Amino acid sequence: MKVGIVGAGHVGLPTAGALARLGHQVTVTDTDAPRIEALGRAEVPFFEPGLQELIAEGIESGRLSFTTDPAPVARESSAVFICVGTPPRVTGEANLVAVEKSALAVARHARGSLIVVEKSTVPTGTSDRLAKALARSKPGVSFQLVSNPEFLREGHAVEDSLHPARVLVGSDSTAALEVMRELYRPIIDGGAEYVETDQRTAELAKHACNAYLALKISFANAMARICELSDADVVSVTKVMGMDPRIGPGHLHAGLGYGGSCFPKDLAAFQRLVERLGYDFPLLGEIKRINDEAVMSVFTKIEEVLWNLEEKRVALLGLAFKPGTDDVRFAPALALARLLVDAGAEVVGYDPVANELAAAEVPGLKTADNVHEALDGAHCAVLCTEWDEFRTLDMTSARSAMAFPIMIDGRNLYESSDMAGAGFTYVPVGRRSVSPAIEDRLLADSL
Ligand code: UDX
Repeated sequence: MKVGIVGAGHVGLPTAGALARLGHQVTVTDTDAPRIEALGRAEVPFFEPGLQELIAEGIESGRLSFTTDPAPVARESSAVFICVGTPPRVTGEANLVAVEKSALAVARHARGSLIVVEKSTVPTGTSDRLAKALARSKPGVSFQLVSNPEFLREGHAVEDSLHPARVLVGSDSTAALEVMRELYRPIIDGGAEYVETDQRTAELAKHACNAYLALKISFANAMARICELSDADVVSVTKVMGMDPRIGPGHLHAGLGYGGSCFPKDLAAFQRLVERLGYDFPLLGEIKRINDEAVMSVFTKIEEVLWNLEEKRVALLGLAFKPGTDDVRFAPALALARLLVDAGAEVVGYDPVANELAAAEVPGLKTADNVHEALDGAHCAVLCTEWDEFRTLDMTSARSAMAFPIMIDGRNLYESSDMAGAGFTYVPVGRRSVSPAIEDRLLADSL
């Protein structure tokens, strides 16, 4: 089947690569000419494990191509996927300008009929609005709208696109549902859950999933605060919660909280949407409040161990919003970096892939070429992103590089006993801190 993808970004490229691997003829179009040109040489503009190889494979097979011209995409494709960004407006509402513009740009060239598939996360009702806009723009063409939200996680986008646990397809058109079924046939035959519904339900289900996952994280972080106040252990609390199959273990990890291009933006957009619909749902606001509190709580821990932050050097281990990506959008590490810079600390971050993007976002944030350079002379280290290279960090050499052996663990990556054994004052989240007596004395002397 011939398929068009509009938007060569975090959603469009894994989708395109996966559909080409499934045997479809895929053309990706984007207005960013240098990006399209680079993609023609299989150069992927961001870090996503396995994506470069998938794109290269598609190009080599002759099933994947890139163009800035939407005309052939509209004329030759059975379905066109809209995979453009829906960034937040200042009000929190999703900005749907790119969705409308890019769909109209393709629609201009359509003939006869065209299936337009929304992959971007949008408020429920968007496909109905888009259907009207498209019909108005090209009265002679029959447009069938489909909502097919993506559930892919950054860092696992290739795996999630090739082997999704579930595929959700919503449309009011039975003909369009049939085409989508054929498109996903290999994935359906591979055993993925395949859910068909109407387009409004599919749009709402995507917002519901992301809001609920964010709720789980905030619930775990609220538990962490309560554990700190009651000398209990949040890792054990959430482990026990996750053992209940009705709750499930995912997204219950307490720490610095969630960031990224999805949860913060989708939650804000969902809040505005339910307000507009006239439903009072303050729980959504609480999810964000607890998430903001998670960063503030780690900042307070740093202040507690270092007292005044001026002229103190703080090393941030990890800057990306999570491991496996160079994405720093709404990254908790950057929110923390801003607080530390404002408080007068010297903040040195190190991330295996996100240094450059992070430094561009936070004035005053210095970056180091490797973890040892970041730790050198640091009065405190804060683990912000649980990259594998930090899991295996040699704590003895880390300790000797630092001015004070203090580790604040914003992701509960380490074990207290190991850290105490290595001579660290160790402060996790929602768990008891350890502080070797000798280090306490040294610290007191130095301050
Ligand atoms: C998320 C959804 O998982 C995905 O289905 C949707 O399509 C897009 O949004 P993503 O943002 O890539 O994907 O990452 P995810 O792995 O869900 O993590 C989001 C954030 O939550 C990260 O900052 C992560 O560090 C944080 N997180 C995740 C926690 O703090 N605790 C957890 O237990 C899990």
